[in-house]
Amino acid sequence: MATGAQDLRRMLDELGRISDERGRLTRTFLSPAMRRANARVATWMRSVGLNVREDATGNLIGRLEAPRSGAKTLLLGSHLDTVRAAGRFDGALGVLLPIVALGELRRRGVALPFAVEVLGFSEEEGVRFSSAYLGSKGYTGQLRAADLKLRDAGGVSVRQAMAAWTRGAPTAELRSAAARAPRPQQWLGYLEVHLEQGPVLEAKRLAVGVVSAIAGQTRGRLTFCGQAGHAGTTPMALRRDAFTGAAEWALAVETLARRSSPLVATVGAVVVAPGAPNVIPGEVVLSLDVRHPDDGARRDALRRLIADAKKIARRRGLTCEWQVTQDNGAVSCSVPFTDLLAQSVRAVQRRSLALVSGAGHDAVVMAALTPVAMLFVRCREGLSHHPDEFASPADLNVALRVIVDFLTRLAGHEKI
Ligand code: GLV
Ligand code: MN
Ligand code: MN
Repeated sequence: MATGAQDLRRMLDELGRISDERGRLTRTFLSPAMRRANARVATWMRSVGLNVREDATGNLIGRLEAPRSGAKTLLLGSHLDTVRAAGRFDGALGVLLPIVALGELRRRGVALPFAVEVLGFSEEEGVRFSSAYLGSKGYTGQLRAADLKLRDAGGVSVRQAMAAWTRGAPTAELRSAAARAPRPQQWLGYLEVHLEQGPVLEAKRLAVGVVSAIAGQTRGRLTFCGQAGHAGTTPMALRRDAFTGAAEWALAVETLARRSSPLVATVGAVVVAPGAPNVIPGEVVLSLDVRHPDDGARRDALRRLIADAKKIARRRGLTCEWQVTQDNGAVSCSVPFTDLLAQSVRAVQRRSLALVSGAGHDAVVMAALTPVAMLFVRCREGLSHHPDEFASPADLNVALRVIVDFLTRLAGHEKI
């Protein structure tokens, strides 16, 4: 199977060069690079016998029918969008590895008794609209009116972006996608392979591990408003500087998270307006991302942080407004499905380790409708959301062997 792992590396490298930005990997929801990425991944899907379609949310779907009609469908996938200045593995690995695994089974002449869909979700990172999982929500019919109204930095709404995307796509494929409402009762489950994005597997000297649960996550925007004014003539005591209020709050976020492990909280984006060296900031919009494996603890922390923001705003003569853009509870992976995956892990690397994922994954949305399992692959120095993100060829080979074993095992288990 070493040649399969080499193919996988080549595909990851090539996909990692399809970017919206020169010199670094950035591929956001429904962007021009996303269209090129879908086209390239579609050729790889077709090369292993999948029928490919794209839905109105820009998801790429490669389907392999079962030998017998009426058989259930196993879903395998992850996302094809990226963060800004991303690595090559986050998301892409979980789309490309199943394609290579299915190619391997085809070479061996193994016909699975169930249908398979390989899913390349168009949006998981929440970069363009500050709200994650738009791709998997679209695929499963969970996109709500509020999601469609979200706007990007240029004022374009999700609805407008989807309309523009579908105008550029082959209409016959879209029509067939529209006709295909999700039928979760027909699904066997959803399996996602993903880079660990953390240091645990490396510390335990294991190539892969299974995920037991995914931490809950809230994201939102906090806007501080003060009074813009002249930086040379307004005395310090008379200022209502929105940025210094925002900075004080960002430190409060860090302080709370530092003393509330395993809570993690991040202010990752800040927009200062009007944004000139000689103008006092009149408005600042900050992003906040809060995660915890326990939903109650996450909600408590969030309440506390919003209260802190109001207190800081009052003291500084500012106003502040909080807007939630995403809220997901913690998700448990399916026990029987994960047990089966752990058997495959043990068959390949002898020992299986269960991990909790601090990162969000498409499996969070899929879990609302079908049993989910996840395989994590060791990540060098735990580094992710970074161009140097790396999984070794040897580890990719282990992951590939595990998934081939899992598909074979599931075929044996499933009375279809
Ligand atoms: C996705 O990468 C996330 O956890 O933010
Ligand atoms: Mn990811
Ligand atoms: Mn990511």
